[in-house]
Amino acid sequence: MNSVSTATSPRQQTLHVHRPGQDQWWRHAVIYQIYPRSFADARGDGVGDLRGIASRLDHLAALGVDAVWLSPFYRSPQRDAGYDVSDYRDVDPRFGTLEDADAMIARAHELDLKVIVDLVPNHTSDQHVWFQQALAAGPGSPERSRYIFREGSGELGEDPPNNWQSSFGGSAWTRVKARPDAPGSAWAEDGQWYLHLFDSSQPDLNWENPEVRAELESVLQFWLDRGVDGFRIDVAHGLVKEPGLPDWSGSVSMVTGVDEPPPEETQGSTLPGTLPGHPPMYDQEGVHEIYRSWRRVLENHPGEQILVAEAWVEPLERLARYVRSDEMNQAFNFSFLVTPWSAPRLRTVIAESYEVNDEVGAPTTWVLSNHDVVRHASRLGLAETGKGPNGIGIGDPQPDAELGLRRARAASLLMLGLPGSAYIYQGEELGLPEHTALPDDAREDPTFARTDGAEKGRDGCRVPIPWEADAPAFGFSPTGESWLPQPEEWSAYAVDAQTGVQGSTLEFYRTVLRLRRELVLGLGSSQWEPTFGDLASDGDVIAVVNTAEGREDVLVLANLGSEPVQLPDGWQVKLSSGPMSGDDGRTVPTDTAVWATR
Ligand code: NOJ
Repeated sequence: MNSVSTATSPRQQTLHVHRPGQDQWWRHAVIYQIYPRSFADARGDGVGDLRGIASRLDHLAALGVDAVWLSPFYRSPQRDAGYDVSDYRDVDPRFGTLEDADAMIARAHELDLKVIVDLVPNHTSDQHVWFQQALAAGPGSPERSRYIFREGSGELGEDPPNNWQSSFGGSAWTRVKARPDAPGSAWAEDGQWYLHLFDSSQPDLNWENPEVRAELESVLQFWLDRGVDGFRIDVAHGLVKEPGLPDWSGSVSMVTGVDEPPPEETQGSTLPGTLPGHPPMYDQEGVHEIYRSWRRVLENHPGEQILVAEAWVEPLERLARYVRSDEMNQAFNFSFLVTPWSAPRLRTVIAESYEVNDEVGAPTTWVLSNHDVVRHASRLGLAETGKGPNGIGIGDPQPDAELGLRRARAASLLMLGLPGSAYIYQGEELGLPEHTALPDDAREDPTFARTDGAEKGRDGCRVPIPWEADAPAFGFSPTGESWLPQPEEWSAYAVDAQTGVQGSTLEFYRTVLRLRRELVLGLGSSQWEPTFGDLASDGDVIAVVNTAEGREDVLVLANLGSEPVQLPDGWQVKLSSGPMSGDDGRTVPTDTAVWATR
């Protein structure tokens, strides 16, 4: 066992100081992500819907979250699971009606839950009326100027206008006449190309066009008037492209951002403050002005609604520019999500997160799972932790389920003990693992097809969640239908199988969230606990003291090392992510986290 003496590291280093007046709901909210296709299906067609969501919101109120964020439920051909919107002001019939949306929002408010909806402003669906008009109107038309159409390169324009790649694999350009709907259409001979940073069914909007700006502001207003409490902004860093669309031969992955910078000779954008090779399609200065104007739209509306940035931007200093006081309220902390299971690395990202957000007066956020990454109960059980692969298939190295869950509970207890706002992805409160054995023919994520199966894609984290161990589709749908097959062993993870069971992951989350709320941990100040050291230390323990006037201090400690460690003197265990050891129960085993008070 590591024996640590308090004499070895006398420093107590401040991480974050809570400022008076910074108590707004979104600075400390626990926000639960609902993935509408997979949460609850009231109609029984195997796809979740808004009535299903409304009927299960009491589970979330009892869990103790403050808000829900719903992935898109707008009218959409579902080529990218709703991130391809064909009408921003309507609900897709698969999910219900506008009246169902109103009822769902009203039910959430009755239960004291805020509702954040997803807004997808970077691109529309190719079935959106604007894109259909653009195809029909032809080159040079005002309809085309709502999107990014260009002539091709090469003698006959037969090559794409530049070398940009789609984040889903393949070129980011599609030629109009090569579209499947071209034969026999007015655009059958049209040689222009259009830009899509994602699937060819998701054309990028042209944010230089004032009509686009006005339209999206009016969409914000539409949902504000229906009573929502905020917007999660999809690909918030992508709206503005560098003029001239210069070539850039790097590659960008979702969540992590640039994963392969371009070779030296093809440098990208040269924006001040950016790293060499900065991509010309992301994190351009012009996006900030858009968010300033959106903030004004929100501020002119009664109540306190928020904007949350989904932006894969590094380093953290640049991400913090999205949450300056006149821009968005929060940004997802993906740097935290992708950090490997290493105490020194996590300490660094925790410290940097506070530093950059405090500098601009924004809350730091914490997130471990969402609908785009391998669930953290599986990701942390892989031989190599960190961002993880884009999906896991039957032939791939499989995660160690027990190790993954042990670490996942420890990681969640750590995250939920830190001041700031935190995100929970549906099912993580059940300890749900990734589905790692989905048959390929069930997969719907466009990345699977666009990479010829080289990337399995995100379906494994999107499988409908289990509510009742013995019901059809584990209570997800009354008929037993489920748009993705659920693994048989998920009966053990069902809500009813865990309710009231001591030590279950669900009861663990309930206790964690109750205590977090009682102690208002989200609004605390924080400093490193001196025994285990600060950033300068290379030890395997992360130990943060969360303090606030008028309540007891809380030690949040996670042991990531291979040896057990002793709780520092004077602290009493309040809650731990797994069993404690030692005669006096004060020893924190490997991959275990604890909250303690003194
Ligand atoms: C990020 C979303 O989270 C992801 O699911 C989607 O595929 C892309 N943006 C494109 O909209």
